[in-house]
Amino acid sequence: PFFEMIQVDNQQQAASLVVNRLANALNEKTLHTLGLATGSTMIPIYNSIINSSLDFSQVTAFNLDEYVGLASTNKNSYAFFMSEHLFSKKPFKETYIQNGLSEDLESECTRYENKLTEHALDIQFLGVGENGHIAFNEPGTSFDSTTHVANLTDSTLGVNSQYFDDHEEIPTRAFTMGIASIMNAKQIILLAFGEKKRQALEALLGDEITEQLPITVLKRHPHVTVITDIK
Ligand code: GLP
Repeated sequence: PFFEMIQVDNQQQAASLVVNRLANALNEKTLHTLGLATGSTMIPIYNSIINSSLDFSQVTAFNLDEYVGLASTNKNSYAFFMSEHLFSKKPFKETYIQNGLSEDLESECTRYENKLTEHALDIQFLGVGENGHIAFNEPGTSFDSTTHVANLTDSTLGVNSQYFDDHEEIPTRAFTMGIASIMNAKQIILLAFGEKKRQALEALLGDEITEQLPITVLKRHPHVTVITDIK
């Protein structure tokens, strides 16, 4: 397996590295489907992509997750985040994200997972939660999971509540690609910045592989690059 850990001084350096990686993959014609993530970690990366000459007009994008109950016009939805931070400024061939407003949750999960199966993910970006979650796969999620509805933990709700106004209800459930869906990606680029992510990163670098720390599953993946400013 290929496991590379790249130490950077700051997020700008990380973003430049990512843009170079993507440029190489586009040149080599090995990037057709790109898995995207939301969260503050991704913002400098998306800014650098927007300011680059990368051409994604032939690339299909898939997002990891979306809150149940939020419309794409709701500013807290991940669909809105993606449109604001990337898609409105860098066009893709097509973009997929779970429909937060779908009424039949089960069939929305099946629809999404089927779409993923039709398009193999060439590169998947991942951030990590402070509790080691990837996408919204919280501790205890089966490594065999595919796209499903997750109940968010108090830890995740606490961290994510900062983005919601006081009077707004933070959704307690979210659609998320499963661990197995993520592990199907040919290549994973995980980004972890700041001391708050140290424990999660240490779990990834340790020996243990456990569903209690979802990030540890990446030790079973054949091609992982970690980019971090944690020393
Ligand atoms: C959310 C997302 C994850 C993301 C995590 C970290 O829970 N579902 O995909 O990795 O937040 O977010 P941040 O980058 O803001 O630290």
